[in-house]
Amino acid sequence: MRPLKLAEGIYDVGVKDWNIRDFHGYSTHMGTSYNAFLIVGSQKTVLIDTVKEPFVNQFMENISKIIDPKEIDILVSNHAEMDHSGALPRILHQIGADKPVYCSKMGERALSAHFPTRQINYQVVKPGTDISLGNYTLSFIETRMLHWPDSMFTFIKEAGILFSSDAFGQHYAWHENFDDEMGEGLFHHAKKYFANILLPYAGKVEKLLKSMEEMDLDIKMICPDHGILWRKNPREIIRRYGRWARHQSKEKVIVIYDTMWNSTEKMAKEIVDGARSTGVEVIPMSVRNWHRSDIMTELIDARALMVGSPTLNNGIFPTLCDVLCYMKGLKPQKKLGAAFGSYGWSGEAVKLLNKELDDMGFERLDDGLKTLYVPDKDQLTAAYDMGVRMGEAVKAKSNPTEEISPPLL
Ligand code: FEO
Repeated sequence: MRPLKLAEGIYDVGVKDWNIRDFHGYSTHMGTSYNAFLIVGSQKTVLIDTVKEPFVNQFMENISKIIDPKEIDILVSNHAEMDHSGALPRILHQIGADKPVYCSKMGERALSAHFPTRQINYQVVKPGTDISLGNYTLSFIETRMLHWPDSMFTFIKEAGILFSSDAFGQHYAWHENFDDEMGEGLFHHAKKYFANILLPYAGKVEKLLKSMEEMDLDIKMICPDHGILWRKNPREIIRRYGRWARHQSKEKVIVIYDTMWNSTEKMAKEIVDGARSTGVEVIPMSVRNWHRSDIMTELIDARALMVGSPTLNNGIFPTLCDVLCYMKGLKPQKKLGAAFGSYGWSGEAVKLLNKELDDMGFERLDDGLKTLYVPDKDQLTAAYDMGVRMGEAVKAKSNPTEEISPPLL
């Protein structure tokens, strides 16, 4: 139920989108929410972020349960992407077109590009800009590329609440609202979000976490723009972000593959058995049955990727092309890699997969394993052995993120 009271005069007035199943290529099987926050200060009232445009009526109803929306004095846009700013023009139309919209410099640029015909009273803020609401003070933290160039956080020191835009979010819209209402499964949703949205900017996340530590913010609650709010132990999600941002991995191998006439799948099964025999965790993932975004979620803390494709028309099977193209854009790092697959006459797929692994900077186990038409007993043994070698390589590879000293948190 919204609005959701977070502290005296502070509410989540956002909406839940139960039905969305695809978020620019990311499978959102639990829907998502567009969280937005109303702060009724003793002197001024502020709305932080809005919602996706089709939800504007529900959003206004949520606000109206607390105040007359016309009483909003200031809007803050932490992020210009349309899931948080799509409703901005209609909100301004209803509450007063000249109300100031505080945003970053890049936010002004992005919002102007999206709403070129609107005369919006943009007020650019920088780190160090403070806005007093009377009993509360808003301050801003630049978070470029998390997840767009304009992104920023807003912090209210008196309440210890960090409004973190996309960061620390999850695409999750069930009945729960707070971290203490959920178990460990919450971190899977948060990990999926990081793997599919923030991973390309892992270095920036790490720098941000360090600068947050230097700022010595007294954070009591983290309120992202998607999903569950972190009130019980906000430092735990910060700690996990540190781990993911440093590409920390487990002794874990994922084996992704597709198959035409089951030959590549037979190889995959042997590889999985071989790797498992070494004691490492191994997850077989047929790309026909696993969504690309779930593959990324498993890859983020895996130490090795093994990828198998039959050769089709001198190339890689198209389902693998989809996954590898998506994966390359997300820039996973510090992984081992290996390729395998069957072929009928020309057999280019393994060579092309090797190039994909090289382009992503993976440390390749070898030149890969090819089998003509159907793997025979020797070739199945070679596949098993390849799995064993990868399992051993995973155990031997140091986890560089553990070498960072002192620990981030
Ligand atoms: Fe939730 Fe980058 O928007």
